[in-house]
Amino acid sequence: MDGVGAQQAVQAEDNGLDPLTSSSGKSSTSPRLELDLGIVAERYREFRAAFPEAEPAYAVKANPHPEVLALLARLGTSVDLASVGELDACLLAGVEPRAMSWGNPVKKASDVRAAVAAGVTRFTTDAAPDVDLLTRLAPGCAVTVRLGVDDLGSATPFAGKFGVAPDEAAVLLRRARDAGLRAHGVGFHPGSQQTDPSSWRRGIAAARRAVEEFGEPVAELNVGGGFPTRHAAGPVPPLASVVEAIRSELGDWRPHLVAEPGRALVADAGVLVAEVVLVTERLGRRWVYLDVGRYQGLAETEGEMIVYRLRTPGHAADAPTGPVVLAGPTCDGDDVLYRRADVRLPLALAPGDVVEFLGAGAYTSSYASVGFNGLPPLPTLIRSTP
Ligand SMILES: Cc1ncc(COP(=O)(O)O)c(C=O)c1O
Repeated sequence: MDGVGAQQAVQAEDNGLDPLTSSSGKSSTSPRLELDLGIVAERYREFRAAFPEAEPAYAVKANPHPEVLALLARLGTSVDLASVGELDACLLAGVEPRAMSWGNPVKKASDVRAAVAAGVTRFTTDAAPDVDLLTRLAPGCAVTVRLGVDDLGSATPFAGKFGVAPDEAAVLLRRARDAGLRAHGVGFHPGSQQTDPSSWRRGIAAARRAVEEFGEPVAELNVGGGFPTRHAAGPVPPLASVVEAIRSELGDWRPHLVAEPGRALVADAGVLVAEVVLVTERLGRRWVYLDVGRYQGLAETEGEMIVYRLRTPGHAADAPTGPVVLAGPTCDGDDVLYRRADVRLPLALAPGDVVEFLGAGAYTSSYASVGFNGLPPLPTLIRSTP
């Protein structure tokens, strides 16, 4: 597909959940996310091998591309859903309703109705009104109560947005049980891009306290997502060390384990290919403006939370480089990717040159706005199939 065709297709079809797909693997469209499904399959198999005792429930929000979902469904994954849009995408991709759990504790009545109509029976909750909503609209469903855990060590912390303390979790489990729901489990999410394995230990300790307080065994423990991937900040702990922390903290507790990896399955599979639009000096610094920014998929650069590894394929690896401020193309003052991070790009970088963001397969295309400044959502090009 040529560049013009791709742009038009994106504007016509793309609602941010169902980005453009081309299997040609070649396009001049810029910016674009090139996604290697072979790497997604590899990461899924590695995850299964490292953590075989856990049911993997892919966090669809990380990358809801239909081909990613279809691939992971074929490989046998369960899914963690956040919305009706994700539910529909998973049904279309062939995920069985029994492999779905609704992980978002913030839901509307219409969400619950749609989930129940589709056959979803597992829901996460963290508030009494939500338990009551489930009681009314999803009688008999299995409820997992989410604990709030200290997510220090996460690049993108939830900072108290979700979860309850162990004693409150016990109250919610009782409320669910007494209302005829299944007080099925407890869980937590240690914060995305979590680089401290002891966060999972703290989550499990809190979960254990909640179950003790509840006074009855629960069937399931959900250890969330958060499994980190490599970005510019340097090495991250290997998955094996996170799994080891989980196993040793569990001791002889043997609940059915669920893990909800998002980033860990898809980040490495994506390269976001962008183009330099303008290079100029401003206030004594060199500014490089790209044709992609905060609103075309690089939302995780907010607060410089995620600093991507960059590549400039048109320049030799040993070409002289210098520090830059890296900015997006829109008229918004917040559309600056990196001011503080030590980003260095070739001194010869010029308009038209390509800049690639590596490890960008997660939380990029799904975050792109539908048309801020008239710019289309980030198209996805599937580079290879496994
Ligand atoms: C409930 C839930 N589960 C799983 C995930 C996936 O997290 P990650 O991509 O860090 O693995 C998220 C991400 O925000 C989430 O909210």
